[in-house]
Amino acid sequence: MKSQILTFDEIDRLAVKVAENMKKGGCIGLIGDLGAGKTTFTKKICKYYGIEENIKSPTFTYVIGYTSGSVNVYHFDAYRIINPEEIYEIGFEDYVGEDGSVIIVEWANNISDEMPEDTVYIEIEHNDENTRKVSIYKLKNGEKEYADIFHNNNN
Ligand SMILES: Nc1ncnc2c1ncn2[C@@H]1O[C@H](COP(=O)(O)OP(=O)(O)OP(=O)(O)O)[C@@H](O)[C@H]1O
Ligand SMILES: [Mg+2]
Repeated sequence: MKSQILTFDEIDRLAVKVAENMKKGGCIGLIGDLGAGKTTFTKKICKYYGIEENIKSPTFTYVIGYTSGSVNVYHFDAYRIINPEEIYEIGFEDYVGEDGSVIIVEWANNISDEMPEDTVYIEIEHNDENTRKVSIYKLKNGEKEYADIFHNNNN
């Protein structure tokens, strides 16, 4: 299924599902316009892992690490990145290489060539006030391989 219109409640449940699937580590790429719900999605994932830190977009620092939960989460925001290689200057590879941690990248489309191969992408598009159009996929040789949103064991 390519995409689905979901209510905020359904999106929150999706975030829990994704968090469950990722608890042994992995990378999540969030794609969506300003205000689509990327940071809120990140908050739900962090909540699932019992993270106590305050979650906010790391717009100026590019990365914030949350280490108070059952899983370490490294939250990136690539909104302001002009040259995708800047992401290496802040040690992106080291975070990606850390066993068992979860990497979440808002605006993953801004650093698409640097994203790890097994990234699960969540695309959130504005629909109306209370819903969003959501798709979830992995990239295989540049092709989107869509996952069934609520039966995603794709990790
Ligand atoms: N799952 C959700 N449940 C309830 N409200 C939501 C949800 N997702 C988004 N919203 C609404 O949309 C607003 C913007 O969401 P959020 O900050 O997560 O977007 P964003 O994609 O991170 O935006 P930006 O690119 O500007 O950082 C929230 O303040 C909230 O009002
Ligand atoms: Mg945000």
